[in-house]
Amino acid sequence: MSEVTTPRPIALIILAAGQGSRMMSDLPKPLHKLGGMPLIAHALFAGAALEPARIIVVTGHGADAVERAVDDLMPFATCVRQERQLGTGHAVLQAAGALADFEGDALVLYADTPFVSVDTLAAMQAARAQHDVVVLGFDAADPGRYGRLVLDGDTLSRIVEAKDATPDELAITTCNSGLLVADAQTLMRLLADVTNTNAAGEYYLTDVPALAKAQGLRATAILCPEAETLGINSRAELAAAETAFQAAKRAEMLENGVAMQAPETVIFALDTWVGQDAEVEPHVVFGPGVTVENGARIRAFSHLEGCHVSAGAVIGPYARLRPGAEIGNDARIGNFVEVKEAQIGEGAKVNHLSYIGDATVGEGSNIGAGTVTCNYDGVMKHRTTIGRNAFIGSDTMLVAPVTVGHNAMTASGSVITEDIPDGALAIGRAKQVTKPGLAVKLMDRLRAIKASKKD
Ligand code: UD1
Ligand code: MG
Repeated sequence: MSEVTTPRPIALIILAAGQGSRMMSDLPKPLHKLGGMPLIAHALFAGAALEPARIIVVTGHGADAVERAVDDLMPFATCVRQERQLGTGHAVLQAAGALADFEGDALVLYADTPFVSVDTLAAMQAARAQHDVVVLGFDAADPGRYGRLVLDGDTLSRIVEAKDATPDELAITTCNSGLLVADAQTLMRLLADVTNTNAAGEYYLTDVPALAKAQGLRATAILCPEAETLGINSRAELAAAETAFQAAKRAEMLENGVAMQAPETVIFALDTWVGQDAEVEPHVVFGPGVTVENGARIRAFSHLEGCHVSAGAVIGPYARLRPGAEIGNDARIGNFVEVKEAQIGEGAKVNHLSYIGDATVGEGSNIGAGTVTCNYDGVMKHRTTIGRNAFIGSDTMLVAPVTVGHNAMTASGSVITEDIPDGALAIGRAKQVTKPGLAVKLMDRLRAIKASKKD
């Protein structure tokens, strides 16, 4: 009978303290956007898939901003500061305090290495069953500045940084991704012995395999495709990474059964979720936080972020769904309609040229063209509540806070400032006055004035 080994508890240590000077930017590198979300979100989410018991993020450059972003993305993560960036080994050691009582493995990830797959991380975790230290490596097309893996069979004897390598070592093409997993306490103990006597004068995390070997521990490397280890160091690399990210996300969407006529024109975010048989027309942009249920249709040139679209709903063309928009089953949001922080009920229609913000629209209601929820008084936001099967006439201004009852109606062009009871019709506009013949008389007079000026 084969023994099923459950993985040990795992803690993530995500290195995010480096300056990223080649980005030429005041924004800390982990906060540059990839797939609509901060770069660090990619490593965080991949690592989170292993269901870690703890997540430690090592911050330094731009620490305040990075820590705020981490708190937003993963409130359960802990940030520790590396006040001076003395090297990757020193960075990992900053997590020692936060892991002092932790029994389990520590997996080191980089904030600027976004493409590592969950499968690869799981393979590293699995390799731990046989080895004390597992390093993730790859065969580099151009080994350049990468650390080289000195392997003896499946034993990783040591890692040598390019700066410190002999010509023979530089000829090695199996390189270090930087990712590593080991027992947390063993890792911290080994790191305590790392010195900075090397070409860079830094405390290298890469000294760990050699130190492990010296103590009779077993280090190994497992390899992954080079594309997974791609690091971001410059704007050009970030742009290339965005292209790679979009290509992968589009392929994943198609594989999951999303219909797209021109997938190469659709922009996704890291966390976009679209259900099977949903249709995404050309030139749709997804910002972060969007979920689209099976069978919904997102028509061309629509822009969505922080919203949910239910089954059977049709959005756009040219619609904008902003954070907090929740579109019910079979609802319709048409062209040049903006929805923000609003629930649109099942089967409700907002088909043309409207703004619905801080509002609830009941099921089956029809919102006429040009309707605006006047939600902002210059200081505060106020809510508009519209009941079921209401009919809002075209060009209605709903001055919030205001409530429109079930089955109620507004006359076109109304400015609604008072609540409307169920079933009532509200007319909030000047009464029409019609003057027979006056149009023609007026035009004749104007033409006469113009003619007299020519003389
Ligand atoms: C590192 C590896 C190298 C590997 C390469 C893969 C070492 C010594 N070298 O080199 O073998 O091939 O990654 O890309 O580890 N960081 C901190 N604090 C520091 C220094 C770095 O948090 O004091 C963070 C950086 O923000 C970054 C990561 O650690 O996320 C890697 O640092 P970086 O300076 O890019 O290391 P490399 O020189 O690329
Ligand atoms: Mg690097």
